[in-house]
Amino acid sequence: MTSFRSLDDVDVKGRRVLVRVDLNVPVQNGEVADASRIERLIPTITEIADKGGKVILLSHYGRPKGPDPQQSRKPIVAAAAKVIGRPIGFAADCIGPVAEQAVAALRPGDILCLENTRFHKGETKNDPELARQLARLGDIYVADAFSVAHRAHASVEAIAHLLPAYAGRAVQEELAALRRALLDPERPVTAIVGGAKVSTKLDLLSNLIARVETLIIAGGMANTFLAAQGKAVGKALCEIDLIPTASDIMAKARSLKREIVLPVDAVVAAKFAAHVPSRVVDIDQVGADDMILDIGPRSIAQAISVLARSKTLVWNGPFGAFEFEPFDNGTVEVAEAAAELTADRRLVSIAGGGDTMAALNVAVVTGRFTYVSTAGGAFLEWLEGKTLPGIEVLQTQRAAAATAV
Ligand code: 3PG
Ligand code: MG
Repeated sequence: MTSFRSLDDVDVKGRRVLVRVDLNVPVQNGEVADASRIERLIPTITEIADKGGKVILLSHYGRPKGPDPQQSRKPIVAAAAKVIGRPIGFAADCIGPVAEQAVAALRPGDILCLENTRFHKGETKNDPELARQLARLGDIYVADAFSVAHRAHASVEAIAHLLPAYAGRAVQEELAALRRALLDPERPVTAIVGGAKVSTKLDLLSNLIARVETLIIAGGMANTFLAAQGKAVGKALCEIDLIPTASDIMAKARSLKREIVLPVDAVVAAKFAAHVPSRVVDIDQVGADDMILDIGPRSIAQAISVLARSKTLVWNGPFGAFEFEPFDNGTVEVAEAAAELTADRRLVSIAGGGDTMAALNVAVVTGRFTYVSTAGGAFLEWLEGKTLPGIEVLQTQRAAAATAV
């Protein structure tokens, strides 16, 4: 049984449904560069509209200090309408007379998007007054923005105390995938944790080491672990002050009988750019002027053989400097192997956080993983074992509703 209510538990017909979505999508030259977050919203929006609800979308964009035309949601509405395949209206404020009039004009099945919630200072302060003004616009609240669930903001958290609150289909799907990844996984579980710095992933590593059988450490952060083993890492990124921490994590792994897998070879170059001359070296042969830009073929084979004996994979962060060819090779090869094991039903593969989705898009495997989250910080915080305010409030609300019955 789930611990929150969903669209299965409510009749939306004729009602005003405030749906918190995440339209914080990357935009380049005025165009949406990646519509994944919008695509994931199709089920919730079309279901509510088809059941005769009035859909009112709430979203933030960027981190504005106040109203800022550069960060308006208006241009995104046109893009979202195209992706969702339905007309979407727009109101130039998310509260007050402008929003109220636009909402009053809605007919069942209509979709309206309100202006950037962060144009009001109260949003990021979880201000109850802003939440009250937002809540006046709706009869029901639906949370469908997992990627902002780690923020205790007025349109995410405070508002959900004021209206009957439900999880949308994207949030349901996300939580089901996360449950399969760590709460109730098929074992053995392997985690791949990459990225530049150990310092940004300390909580993640500490939580995962107790929950997975094997932890593959990837990306720049592997260098700090290699240095902790006394290996020379040349000019590669390495956080010297975190070497003791890396040693502690390896000691914890030994005492819990968990396996930590580090690179055994590397692709090195003199500088960090596309197509610079590079060579493969054993990990203990990294020269003083070498930068480590990717894992080598033996490390790729090692990672793939770990995956072949795993039943579940949780992946956050790339192996190498995937933005620059050919240093995307390690990430692409391992991702390809994970996608094949997934297709053969031998592996449940779940990935997300930060630039992981961009890396897996480069590898063209996103559609072939069991689930790829579009969330950055929220995915990480969930893997770190933290409570997400935007999810917790749905659980509290359900519990309160159950007691009231
Ligand atoms: C994101 O893209 O990470 C979410 O939309 C949350 O945005 P924020 O990091 O600015 O709170
Ligand atoms: Mg973020």
